Parts: sequence; C-alpha cells; structure tokens
Amino acid sequence: MDSKYLGGLVSRITKGAKVVIVSNREPCLHERDVDGIRIVRPASGMVAALEPIVRATGGTWVAHGSGSADRLVTDEKGRISLPPEDPRYTLRRVWLTKKEEDGYYYSLSNQALWPLCHIVYTRPRFSRTDWETYKNVNRRFCDTVLEEVEGGPAIVFIQDYHLALLPRMLRNERPDLMLIHFWHIPWPNREAFRIFPWGEELLDGLLGNDIMGFHIQYHCNNFMGTVDRAIEAKVDYEHFRIFRGGRPTHIRAFPISVDYHQIGKDVASQPVDERHASFIKELGEGILATKIYVGADRIDYTKGIPERMKGFDLMLKDHPELKGKVTLLQLAAPSRTHIEEYRNINDELDDLVDEINWRHQTEDWTPIRFLRAHHDYHAVLASYRMADVLMVTSLHDGMNLVAKEFLSARSDNDGVLLLSRYTGAARELPDALQVNPYDIDELADAMYEAFVMPEQQRHKRMKRMRSQVQKHTVYDWGAKIFEELEDILPVKEVA
Ligand code: F6P
Repeated sequence: MDSKYLGGLVSRITKGAKVVIVSNREPCLHERDVDGIRIVRPASGMVAALEPIVRATGGTWVAHGSGSADRLVTDEKGRISLPPEDPRYTLRRVWLTKKEEDGYYYSLSNQALWPLCHIVYTRPRFSRTDWETYKNVNRRFCDTVLEEVEGGPAIVFIQDYHLALLPRMLRNERPDLMLIHFWHIPWPNREAFRIFPWGEELLDGLLGNDIMGFHIQYHCNNFMGTVDRAIEAKVDYEHFRIFRGGRPTHIRAFPISVDYHQIGKDVASQPVDERHASFIKELGEGILATKIYVGADRIDYTKGIPERMKGFDLMLKDHPELKGKVTLLQLAAPSRTHIEEYRNINDELDDLVDEINWRHQTEDWTPIRFLRAHHDYHAVLASYRMADVLMVTSLHDGMNLVAKEFLSARSDNDGVLLLSRYTGAARELPDALQVNPYDIDELADAMYEAFVMPEQQRHKRMKRMRSQVQKHTVYDWGAKIFEELEDILPVKEVA
C-alpha cells in the first residue's frame, strides 16, 4: 500500500465528499527567527502519521495556529496551501487567545486528560474554569469545521483528546456528516476514568462519532467498559458498537504506523548525511568507537527518560568493563514547558545527567550526551542511523512511532530495539527486547543483553520487525479506517 493507492481508495470511498482533518497540533509551524521565517515540523507522532495521509487524500486540515509567524503567511481566513513547494492540501488555522490556550491546551487537555489517560502516577488536575474554556475552544473548532465543509457532504476525521466534545457539536449541527475520531493516547480503565468530573459530557461528545478508533483492542475494551458504567447507552459487545440516542458509534482498533518506504529513502539522503556529520562534529569522533544507545523523545514524564538513565547508570555499575565502550545519546525535545510537571522533569533530567556523568566519566569519555533541543526530521533519522540500540522506555504510550521509525530506517538490518512493554507497539514487535521500564534492574539487564547480542541474532530480529512495519504502514492504517467507514456507512455519490 502506498500513497497513490490510498489516495485512489479514499476518493473511491468518499465519492466527492470533502475530507476535513481536525487536530490541535498543526502539521507545521511558521516561526520567526533572525533570518526571517522558518518552517518547523513539530515533534509529534500524530503529525508524523497524519501528514503523509493528508498529502495522499487532499482536503483541509483544521488546527490551532501556534507558530509565532503563522498569521503572517496565511490569508484572511487563516488558510495556507501545503507543502509550499508542492501544494496537496489546505491548512486552516484556528487562532486562540493566550487564555484559551492556557485553559484548553495546557490545563484541561494536558494536566487533566493526559495524566488521566496515561495512568503514570501523575495526579490529574481538574478545574471548572478550564472545562468551560475547553468547551468554548471545541466550539470554536466546530464553527471553523462547519465553515470549511460549506454545507456539502464531508468526512470529518478528528484527532485526539483535545477535541472530545467536537463530534457531538458537529453531529447536532449537521446530522449528515460522517465523523471519525482517532484517540492517539491510551484509554484508561473505567475505575481510573471515573474521577473525571465531567465524564458524562465528555463521553456523550465522543459518541457523536460514527467511528471511534484506538491503537489497540485493549483501549477499545476499556472504552466500552467506561461507557457501560458511566452513561446511558446500549453497549453492544458482540459488534463493538455503542448506541446513544439511537445512532451507533463503532469502536475499532487501528494500530497506527509510519511511512516505511519514505523513511527508508530519506535516511540515505544528503540532509541526513549532513546532520550525521554535525552530530559527530558536536559530540566528537570518539563516540563512534562506542556502542551508541539512542533515545529520541519529547521531554514528557510518560516517556520514562529518567528510568532509562538510571538503567544505563546501573549497567555501568554492574559492568564497569563497559566504561568507555558505551554512550547514551538522548535527543530531547522541550515540550509543554508552561506546566509544572514538565519543568520538574527537565530539572530531574539535568540532575541525573550531571550525577551519572560525574560518577562514571573519564578524561576522554562522557557516558550520557544529552541534547535538549528540537531536532528536525533529518536529525532524528541521523540519530537512528547512529544507534546500536534504540531505547523506547515509555511508562505508558498509545503506540510510540519512534520505534517504528527506527525500524524503517535500518535497511542494514542491524541495531537492537529495546522497547517498553507498555507501548502499543510492543504488541506488534515481540522481537524487540521488551522491558518493564519501572524495573531499573530489568532495564540495566536488557541494556547489557543488547550490548552482547550476537550479530546474527540482531539481524534475525531486525528483519522480522522490519517486515512487520513494512506490511503495516501508515497508508494501511488510513485505508483500514476508510474501508471501515465504507462498510458501516455507505457514502452517497455527490450529485
Ligand atoms: O499523540 C499525542 C499528542 O498529544 C499529539 O496530539 C501531539 O501532537 C503530540 O502528542 C505532541 O504533543 P503536543 O502537540 O502537545 O506538543
């Protein structure tokens, strides 16, 4: 399945209806800098997955315009054609005030729903004012989507937990719209969800959808159980659908993926060679004489970055003979830094890097190289190329696309993937070294196992994992969602 095939399939299924994607995060930000305006691709698995899909299907992507120069490059409605060099779709930006961004994005979405859904022992915070702002912003998105569909038939494909009320709002205004929602983070069990103070309203919002998608069946089961307990609705476990007000919402698992072939091509490109060279310049040639353990994450308390560092530290304590022979290279993109827990984890990481390096370093070797910055796509690919071991140690993660990107990038069939059991990706990748990231001893052992793994075994595992990702790319993900729509809701021909 490739981009062209998906484009054809979607236009056969949608029969001329407009396709509108809606998300909080936009596919690219325009940022002001000293040389003018720079385009930044955000560190987001959701964007990495959706962008190739929208290029294939065309249509309009509605998202929050959060770049400092976003307004300078759009028309008076907030529209811009993308990508600039070869326009395939329209981005329609929604403008939010600081107050709205604070209540809806930083607070309700990322201090209430984010910790609630991930269950990583970070307390969610609830505030009625934030809930009101969240509702108002969802309403703003609703108005924008309605404007974009211009009264005609449309398929609206909503992303994530920032927009849980949008489906019901759209459904009330336009019962004929086809609504799909994909939840990119885990859905918690019903006991965890029941502390959310506005649970009924939120679930009612989501049950405005025709299809509600999650990464794995377990999250679908949790969602069904949550609805069953919290709200009046007919929960049909046999067909995995929920009737609310007579209309069904179909609950389905669609494991998201990456553009395997494109990544395979890009990793061998000149920009990646350049980023590779600048890493070596920055880190010193000496790093190449060590086995490189790479991590590439947003700085987020769900990603298990401190645990990874502690595991590395323990491996060096248990196996002092590895000193000078291994390096942990951590690419760390700052994220949501207005939130206290995110500032705390930044401080914790600084302390840990300091302490571990102080403990083990020698005159010509530093165990942890911590690069806190937004690294672009090509730099991240360069880091995958350098990795002897790629570490994904999330405490909980819907899918985790870093793992799948790494596999797509390794056409040499080498490299070890160390993967948290609590990622959606772990279900598809039994050949990874799977770990419980809360267990530092287990982490250290797995890191050591990666160090001593024989070449033949590395190749065997890598080949099998690559073949899994090759067979299930992001285009297959998109196709399955649209085929599901075709099955449950035949789309009428646009006259
Ligand atoms: O997948 C979860 C998600 O919140 C996406 O919606 C988002 O784009 C990504 O993680 C990164 O987070 P943020 O958009 O808050 O920077």
